[in-house]
Amino acid sequence: MPPPTGAARGLTSYGDAGFSRFLRGVFLSGAGFDREELDKPIIGIADLRSDYNPCHRDVPAIVEHVKRGVLEAGGLPMVFPTMSLGELLLSPTSMLLRNLLAMETEELIRAQPMDAAVLIGGCDKTVPAQLMAAASSEVPVIVEVTGPMLTNTFEGERVGACTDCRRLWAKHRAGDLDTAQIQNAEGALATTSGTCMVMGTASTMATMAETLGMMLPGGATPPSPTGDRLRHALQTGRRAVELARDPLLPSQILTVDAFHNALRVLSAIGGSTNAVVHLLAIARRAGVDLALPDFDVASRETPLLLDLKPSGTGYMEDFHRAGGVPVLLKELEGMLRLDHVGVSGTSLRSLLADQGRPARWQTTIRPTSAPLRPSGALAVLTGSLAPDGAVIKVSAATEALLAHTGPAVVFESPEDAALRLDDPSLEITADSVLVLRNAGPVAAGMPEAGSLPIPRRLAEAGVTDMVRVSDARMSGTSYGTVVLHCSPESAVGGPLGLVRNGDLIRLDVPSRSIDLLVDEAELDRRRQDFQPSPAPRRGWHRLYATTVLQAHLGADLDFLSPAPGLTADA
Ligand code: FES
Repeated sequence: MPPPTGAARGLTSYGDAGFSRFLRGVFLSGAGFDREELDKPIIGIADLRSDYNPCHRDVPAIVEHVKRGVLEAGGLPMVFPTMSLGELLLSPTSMLLRNLLAMETEELIRAQPMDAAVLIGGCDKTVPAQLMAAASSEVPVIVEVTGPMLTNTFEGERVGACTDCRRLWAKHRAGDLDTAQIQNAEGALATTSGTCMVMGTASTMATMAETLGMMLPGGATPPSPTGDRLRHALQTGRRAVELARDPLLPSQILTVDAFHNALRVLSAIGGSTNAVVHLLAIARRAGVDLALPDFDVASRETPLLLDLKPSGTGYMEDFHRAGGVPVLLKELEGMLRLDHVGVSGTSLRSLLADQGRPARWQTTIRPTSAPLRPSGALAVLTGSLAPDGAVIKVSAATEALLAHTGPAVVFESPEDAALRLDDPSLEITADSVLVLRNAGPVAAGMPEAGSLPIPRRLAEAGVTDMVRVSDARMSGTSYGTVVLHCSPESAVGGPLGLVRNGDLIRLDVPSRSIDLLVDEAELDRRRQDFQPSPAPRRGWHRLYATTVLQAHLGADLDFLSPAPGLTADA
């Protein structure tokens, strides 16, 4: 007998299946559903609208269009809420809640009757969480995103969130923008619905979702306020019904080939360093053997083709006008695994067969013959300061600082940095290396504190970049010579915790190393003094801090990966 579908799926347990189905019918009848509808495939639609998430302002319209597509194709849409993670309205960091959203989404897909799911996300942590949930799901899943914001102008210059937020604030700190100007900038940087419109984490993860095959082609780039976005949502709803009838499961899509392609595209777009942590977590759940060195290999092999901030000059709407991800994939065709099949049900080879290459009239998607950078947008570093690895976004760093040795100035936490960075008595020069610790997954949920501001005194003197090293993350919209995700983190005894003010630190990106130039005997002495901090006493923070994996493993909770039925190392 075929497994039950629609409303008969996953019946509540009362010890009498007939009664369970009857009772479900009673309450669904009361909600206005009739028997004919309940025989149709049910498409669960995750709705992440929230006043606390401005990036999801247009979710209601997107939900309506997905529903329309579902109804047209003969399915029954059922919308359900999940928590919504708005990057800038969550404290101490949205990353602390990524795994909770992933758990919630996974459990609601499993617990509620649905034959396929459409997950509507956008802001930074939502799409990674949904992809993690999808990897652990046993029904077809399609991801749809809210899409990026449109740009605006400030004092005659085109601007957008949030690379320009950081750049303008740095000018304000340096005394180049006064209070009235920075207040005007506040109203100019994010003026439409949608996600940050540079190649930050939201744009990167939307591009990853499309490349992994978890989103219909062309879905990563349509801006949120456009008809293109709504039409894509409509098609997603239609396709979800087809997938419910003829399932293609996330486990069939999230394969080694999918991640091979994702890593090449991540390098070609100059994607967010946050994607490294997220892709490691998704792969781990999917049972795909992915590790930090794989990112470095992909980066060395792949040219940077996309001219978007923070690595370049453009914005997501330019990428969309230039043809979006399908055109980029066409340009990268020679280095992709073309037999991969995503939610469209069509192989990448077939999808790209009729796809044109980047048009001459645009300059956003560069041809491989004239890349923005020949390779190496992202680098994975190891060394005595990060034995399990660290990452740096080379394409957004200062070339002259990529090989640099300087004395450490240590901050014990993001709060300590906020207190002392601008202290006029702080002994610091442009050659110093700013070290931030106790900002890793266990200590703090890995906030985006890694791109510490340039101390005001140095900023006013014209310093625009310094080497910074931490176990934190940084926003995908940030730039600078910033070494992130040092693993293991200081709170679990990682060497970042052994650095003292004045120790020399050597960054050598060409040789992929980050080292603390202190002899081993001295480090051993310092290790004797290490005291782990006590775990938070209760609730989610305690569960998180006591079970989260290190950054180089994806910072998922140890008991959530791999997906059911798969195996992976602890
Ligand atoms: Fe939501 Fe940038 S704050 S995407």
